[in-house]
Amino acid sequence: MTLRLTNIGQLATCPPDNPQQDAGLIADAALVIVDGRVAWSGPARQCPAEWKDAETEDCEGRLVIPGLVDCHTHLCFGGWRGDEFEMRLQGKSYQEIAAAGGGIRHTVGHTRESEDAELARKARTALDEMLSLGVTTVECKSGYGLDVETELRQLMLYRDLDAAHTVELVPTFLGAHVIPDEYSANRKDYIDLLCDTMLPAVAERGLAEFCDVFVEQGAYALEEARRILGVARELGLGLKVHADQLSDGGGALLAAEMGAVSAEHLEYAGNDGVRAMARAGTVAVSLPLASLFLRERYLPARDFLATGCRVAIATDFNPGSSPSFHLPLALTLACLNQSMTPQEALMGATTVAARAVSRQDRLGSLLPGFDADIAVIDAPDLNHWLYHFRPNACVTRFKRGQAC
Ligand code: NIG
Ligand code: FE
Repeated sequence: MTLRLTNIGQLATCPPDNPQQDAGLIADAALVIVDGRVAWSGPARQCPAEWKDAETEDCEGRLVIPGLVDCHTHLCFGGWRGDEFEMRLQGKSYQEIAAAGGGIRHTVGHTRESEDAELARKARTALDEMLSLGVTTVECKSGYGLDVETELRQLMLYRDLDAAHTVELVPTFLGAHVIPDEYSANRKDYIDLLCDTMLPAVAERGLAEFCDVFVEQGAYALEEARRILGVARELGLGLKVHADQLSDGGGALLAAEMGAVSAEHLEYAGNDGVRAMARAGTVAVSLPLASLFLRERYLPARDFLATGCRVAIATDFNPGSSPSFHLPLALTLACLNQSMTPQEALMGATTVAARAVSRQDRLGSLLPGFDADIAVIDAPDLNHWLYHFRPNACVTRFKRGQAC
């Protein structure tokens, strides 16, 4: 099947090898899709004659971007935590609430108790809305089961949703989110369970592409994380680290040392960690919605970019620190509070985000050969889109060339 998108006011091709500040913008552009892939993109007047007679879709002067990639979510969870939102507004901190038995552990209880059908319904509802915003790929973590059965249930649910839903899912094992209550007196036993039973089971069944660890006071210490990530790497999983979110705990350095594909949060990462990540090619995943909802500091994105790190932008969708999956809002926040330009922000949610899930050769760009994952945005250009914030400016989307 061949389809020619015409009358594109501005096209963002987001080439994977461009510096992040250059989103490959082309005014008055056209794009040709053949069999689910981009066959050609460029200035409309240069469109090769061979596609002049193809079926067309008139973009009416709008902005056309790669389908967005949300490279960090905790998509599957039971219950919500609106009561903690009020507690935080009254002055309790995220850590105080967690230490008192709320937070992640609260959601673990709800997730363990939830039926598969209920968890699936909730995740599907979120995916439907994410897709409507122009998001065509979503990384999704386990980590609200923290026992063999429920961690595998979360990952199997992702496998089934990936098969059934238009949005492409990238599953990550986050069994090392916190230590579950039943192991609080003997945390080493839980880490043994992670390394000896859970990770091998996940790898053997091919249920996850990545392993993530939350390195933080109240979660995992550096040495513990090093062991877990080492086992995951041996089993062939890619690595990710929740690092330096609430304090500088050396997580960024560890991510670089272990060759992690990405490190996430990083609001408190030190200069040595940033430099090490730049050298290792580890993507910095910024999560501005978590900073918004926790009223915490934002990622110092300019320092990362100046040091040579790529900076992705994701939602961190979860019931605690980021109860929103609005990736375009995260982009506008990254501009306003992380001083990223609109082009840097867009690259951060397309090709750089694709790199954070090891898909930068297939997703997140609209050069020939890439999957035709496309969002048509009702704005004349990128600056206008990210400045004139609307509930949803996305009017049309394609996944592998199929309108959806
Ligand atoms: O990325 N930092 C750890 N995990 C999540 C929060 C999960 C929760 O609060 O339920 C995060 O912010
Ligand atoms: Fe997270």
